[in-house]
Amino acid sequence: MNKEKQKIPRIIYIITASAVIGGFLFGYDTAVVSGTIGALEKNFILPQGFDVTAANWWLGFTVSSALIGCIIGALSGGYVSDKFGRKKAMVLSAILFFVSALGSAFPETGITSLGEQPSSVWAVFVGYRIIGGIGVGLASMLAPMYISEVAPAHIRGRLVSWNQFAIVIGVFISFLVNYQIGKMGDTEWLNTTGWRYMFGAEALPALVYFFMLFRVPESPRWLVLKGKELDSEMIFKRLSPTEDIKLLISNIKKPVTKVGTKRVIDSFQILKIGVFLAIFQQFIGINVVLYYAPEIFKSVGAKGDEALWQSVIVGLANMVFTIIAIEKVDLFGRKPLMLIGALGMTISMGLMGFAFFAGFNGIYILVFMLLYISFFAMSWGPVTWVLIAEIFPNEIRARAMSIAVASMWVSNFLVSQTFPVLDKNPYLAEKFNHGFAYWVYAAVSLVAFLFILKKVPETRGKTLEEMEEFWNKSRT
Ligand code: GLC
Repeated sequence: MNKEKQKIPRIIYIITASAVIGGFLFGYDTAVVSGTIGALEKNFILPQGFDVTAANWWLGFTVSSALIGCIIGALSGGYVSDKFGRKKAMVLSAILFFVSALGSAFPETGITSLGEQPSSVWAVFVGYRIIGGIGVGLASMLAPMYISEVAPAHIRGRLVSWNQFAIVIGVFISFLVNYQIGKMGDTEWLNTTGWRYMFGAEALPALVYFFMLFRVPESPRWLVLKGKELDSEMIFKRLSPTEDIKLLISNIKKPVTKVGTKRVIDSFQILKIGVFLAIFQQFIGINVVLYYAPEIFKSVGAKGDEALWQSVIVGLANMVFTIIAIEKVDLFGRKPLMLIGALGMTISMGLMGFAFFAGFNGIYILVFMLLYISFFAMSWGPVTWVLIAEIFPNEIRARAMSIAVASMWVSNFLVSQTFPVLDKNPYLAEKFNHGFAYWVYAAVSLVAFLFILKKVPETRGKTLEEMEEFWNKSRT
């Protein structure tokens, strides 16, 4: 039977729809803080009487504190999901999201013993943001991994890409929520009350995520690794009714990382590929574009409102072009999309740097930025997640993904913290007219292109076990 025509059981869609709420929360949680910066400064930083430099530093720390949690969450995700299962680990992330949403919104609650000093409320707030970050770190690795472990091979890329779509929607919705709440009152109200709604609103999707997870089965591949073959067989029957399930299970059971004392697959080589994919995805500068877009537009002459709308268009392009990846990733394969994307980003970032360097009109910056984000969205945005969720052998997938995704969060942190330095350094600013950072990202995209060309195998249409077979054969 033509695989493309095979009927996909409904349960696959329920599973995907449930898991990607984790992606949605990831997007919402990382972006929502941008709307609350003024209130955080007013409530937590200014009352503490720091000097200007220290105040800026602590504000920056407060805004990005969740990233610490993301790294912790990604690092512990491998262990947690191997020991307790993919499903329980996702339930844990749902709980963390819920607790963090309410805790960040009302950090004063329950700490009267500490005294409601601004500094102690602030410390509790940061604690709750880190808890949310742990939820993000967990969800960021679990959703792609879980989906890839249950998906039929011929639509696996598409289903994992939906998670990226959900991330981007989460970013977008947080923006709309902040915008709406911003309109509900004046600055005074926003600083005392409005900001709490921005964080608190996340409790609702967190609850939906929690309850949806009760409807999904455990990953059958994990069950096999845990020796629960009967349970796994029952689940596989629902997921892939036409497949030879006994054969599938016996393939999953084949040890690949070691037979006796002999190593079959060089796990370290595959781990390196995963980690590099993750690092490249960040060092091509995507989050600089997303986090700093309004600032960038303002620096080339856009007024407050214009800068805001231009950033909305960038977010929309990110959504729309992700759909191309969803549609094409299982048809064309992973490598062609990644290659086209890397080349497109090299060119558009190169042009953007040049537009700054040569002092072009702001509209060119918008056009090049849209070009860049479109190339990212149809390639490295979703497909990096697809690849790191499918290249690793079953036995090491969770731990290897954990390391790759943690490298991604560390890189995210490094790139977003170093942009202002690259941008504002007086020597570079003068010599390149604020274009230097973009050329750095363009150069990274070019290296990423070569990396895909030379080092990354095509995984389209292969079952996860056929991938293992592939690594096995390619071992020199
Ligand atoms: C990917 C990246 C993430 C980025 C997002 C933007 O998911 O991993 O860092 O914010 O794309 O679309």
